[in-house]
Amino acid sequence: MSKTPVVSAVILAAGQGTRMRSSLPKVLHPLSGRPLIRYSLDAVKGLTSNPPVVVIGHGADSVRKTVGEDARFVVQQPQLGTAHAVMTAEQLLKDEADLLVVTTADMPLIRPETLKALVDMQQANNGPITMLTGFADDPRGFGRIVRAEDNSVQAIVEEAACTPAQLRIHELNLSIYCFDAKWLWGALKRIKVSAKGEYYLTDVVAIAREDNLTVNAISLEDFNEAIGINTRVHLAEAEAILRERINRQWMESGVTLQDPNTTYIAPTVRIGRDTTIGPNTHLRGDTIIGEGTVIGPNCIIEDSAIGNNCTILAAVIESAIVEDGVSMGPFAHLRKGAHLMTGVHMGNFGEVKDSTLRPGVKMGHFSYIGNADIGENTNIGAGTITCNFDGVHKNPTVIGANVFIGSDTMLVAPLTIGENARTGAGSVVTHDIPAGEVVVGVPARPHKKVEKSD
Ligand code: UD1
Ligand code: CA
Repeated sequence: MSKTPVVSAVILAAGQGTRMRSSLPKVLHPLSGRPLIRYSLDAVKGLTSNPPVVVIGHGADSVRKTVGEDARFVVQQPQLGTAHAVMTAEQLLKDEADLLVVTTADMPLIRPETLKALVDMQQANNGPITMLTGFADDPRGFGRIVRAEDNSVQAIVEEAACTPAQLRIHELNLSIYCFDAKWLWGALKRIKVSAKGEYYLTDVVAIAREDNLTVNAISLEDFNEAIGINTRVHLAEAEAILRERINRQWMESGVTLQDPNTTYIAPTVRIGRDTTIGPNTHLRGDTIIGEGTVIGPNCIIEDSAIGNNCTILAAVIESAIVEDGVSMGPFAHLRKGAHLMTGVHMGNFGEVKDSTLRPGVKMGHFSYIGNADIGENTNIGAGTITCNFDGVHKNPTVIGANVFIGSDTMLVAPLTIGENARTGAGSVVTHDIPAGEVVVGVPARPHKKVEKSD
């Protein structure tokens, strides 16, 4: 028995992407909120524990910065074609890899299972190459696959070089391969420069054939996987396909999407069963949503955790935590560091930032709570504002349990309000309030009960 082969992956990402007409490198354009190259990195992740090698060139610094620790980098300068790009990874990989997967950073919809199938087929292949192909009505300028009688691949013919008969071939080269690495390093050196001054990776097929070696191919069942991004039109196509794919997966796992066409769920989001997502809702980043919750219509939720059995209508939630049984909205805004504990009710036109609302807090209408800790079952009256910023510092407000803050109260921080205290409507509170005390007025003072004559 031979030992399991070591698999390494190379992701080609040095090209300019001129047709994006952008100052941002193509592979950093966001698809469902994540840079394109993330998808290729994720797709190869399951194949090997060796970090992939990304070939960078145009926009090298920003690509390197965005990808960070998740990959190794080689710089291809100048960019002399796809074969030349793979060659730049040779030094790094020649003593490491038995099998080499080569893929591109601009095909974000390729599934990990597809690459796995490619590697499995190459392992069973006596020849040095297994390539990925796809059948499409629109050949998109891709290289055509010419098959031999035994169904192995005879040649890849670039569109510019096709005969009229070859132009009618609908099997296309997707530029994704698994190679016998040792063979590949030798073959790359035999590639001759093209008329355009480039070294084409596709030429390795002809080299294998010269050596009487078999080139195998598997073809995609779903050509949508092969949507490559060259323009912003392609980017929008890919968005639509990815959205469909993600939405279908959530519906199949028990989430109701009332209108999948206007539901935007990033690939990084997690959702519990029997949750319902209404139309025009965007779930982004590292968002996790519990079970039996109703989100939307019209919500934007990013990098947030939402519990079970919540109702969230027309809200914007960023980097916040919402525990079980919270009802929110419409038109509520949670900003970074907002934490709504179990059973909180937050009504319309409220904003909470860097604050904890403890269980049972009610904040019905038109309030701003910032840098505050609000005790259990406290009621925040309409129009209450924590005046947390003095022009230099953000100051804290601490409110105990069972407090009643009257409508239109200004809470001038720093401030501590004891439990069971009350403020009158329109009061401006500038000093701490002891537990149980009632204050009113501007500035707020203890409320004197009408003197009883004795
Ligand atoms: C290539 C294939 C073609 C295939 C098509 C599928 C060749 C010669 N042709 O053509 O058969 O149908 O992909 O999309 O390979 N890159 C580098 N360095 C370079 C050149 C390219 O890193 O010097 C990268 C690009 O950033 C891109 C990928 O390689 O990610 C493909 O390059 P591209 O120029 O788009 O190849 P095509 O001409 O489209
Ligand atoms: Ca291309």
